Amino acid sequence: MWSSWWLLPLVAVCTADRFREEAERIMRSTPVIDGHNDLPWQLLTKFNNRLRDQRANLTSLAHTKTSIPKLKAGFVGGQFWSAYTPCNTQNKDAVRRTLEQIDVIHRMCQMYPETFMCVTDSQGIRQAFQEGKVASLVGVEGGHSIDSSLGVLRALYHLGMRYLTLTHSCNTPWADNWLVDTGDDVAQSHGLSPFGQSVVREMNRLGVIVDLAHVSLATMKAVLRLSKAPVIFSHSSAYALCAHRRNVPDDVLRLVNETGSLVMVNFYNDHVSCKPEATLSQVADHLDHIKAVAGAGAVGFGGDFDGVPRLPSGLEDVSKYPDLVAELLRRQWTEAEVRGALAANLLRVFEAVEQVSNHAQSPEEEPIPLGKLETSCRTNYGYSEAPSLRQQSGALLACLAPLLLSLCLL
Ligand SMILES: *[C@@H]1O[C@H](CO)[C@@H](O)[C@H](O)[C@H]1NC(C)=O
Ligand SMILES: *[C@@H]1O[C@H](CO)[C@@H](O)[C@H](O)[C@H]1NC(C)=O
Ligand SMILES: [Zn+2]
Repeated sequence: MWSSWWLLPLVAVCTADRFREEAERIMRSTPVIDGHNDLPWQLLTKFNNRLRDQRANLTSLAHTKTSIPKLKAGFVGGQFWSAYTPCNTQNKDAVRRTLEQIDVIHRMCQMYPETFMCVTDSQGIRQAFQEGKVASLVGVEGGHSIDSSLGVLRALYHLGMRYLTLTHSCNTPWADNWLVDTGDDVAQSHGLSPFGQSVVREMNRLGVIVDLAHVSLATMKAVLRLSKAPVIFSHSSAYALCAHRRNVPDDVLRLVNETGSLVMVNFYNDHVSCKPEATLSQVADHLDHIKAVAGAGAVGFGGDFDGVPRLPSGLEDVSKYPDLVAELLRRQWTEAEVRGALAANLLRVFEAVEQVSNHAQSPEEEPIPLGKLETSCRTNYGYSEAPSLRQQSGALLACLAPLLLSLCLL
């Protein structure tokens, strides 16, 4: 009697190839739109945003998870590039740093026009797909970037910002961050302050996607109740599989389903397995879980490449997306579900946000919180350069001016 046990490994190898080929076939017409990539932060910290530095050439970039060849190999067709400035710039030069990161994203598009196409709407993403380019959009990570000003929010919109993460890992004066839920930070707004509510209303009016990655549970729930348009988690995974407060718990996943919103799964090991090590298969577990609880229409990818120190084996850089898609196919995801996770779900949310936006409606005129007007003497916050004597005396003059002015008024 002959046994076919020896066929099994062979079958496994052949089907592995079959799923990978199937993934590539799907991705040729529906490339991935990723929710969060920190290459701009790498460009700042490694090259001081000097794109003409030979080492910064994006076709030969080494030591980053993202480069032009890797994006092509990964079938990346849309990317929200993160315009991020750390929390320690809050109330200092956060706005300037944000503008500089938006500028470097625009310069990437100008310098590599065969690869990147900077776009600001869903139609632009579809156009970039057609032309085989990477649709490039600006996501601003951290509400501190608007410095509690709706005027700054609107100006960032005009510079191309199409999502704003309401907090990074610090409270803003109007929204709480996830560290409130670990007890490492104190709740201030208990969700959204009244000013925070006007920020969300103004984002709805403008057509900026609200991003709930990094916010506290109360803030997630407050926004899911208030927002007239669906929202995203640009880089967050499932709390049920890894009890990290950056992840989304099941009760919120049900609200995500009810509002037609979207969770773009983060690949950071610490959020995937709650351990320093993780695997591609564990990332697929998160995608499976979110699909089971919130629906296949609520799943996306937000790899957080170049923003985190540890990535799963099998998902080391942006070239690996087809392997993850092959794994979903192996797990019986239908072609429509896969296309949804790759791009269609984000496009649906973005189109709904565009539908809700209304530029004919007059802008919110919530006054700038008074405390903000008083603190006009800002410290100059530089990464490498100390302020010159002229800058220092300029700052001193700026600080003295209101004092002199009030003396005149006496
Ligand atoms: C990057 O390097 C490639 C070849 O390695 C070269 O063709 C290209 O002009 C360079 N791009 C920039 C913007 O320096
Ligand atoms: C929400 O759940 C319902 C019922 O399970 C499902 O039909 C629907 O497609 C889900 N919505 C999304 C956006 O996945
Ligand atoms: Zn982040």
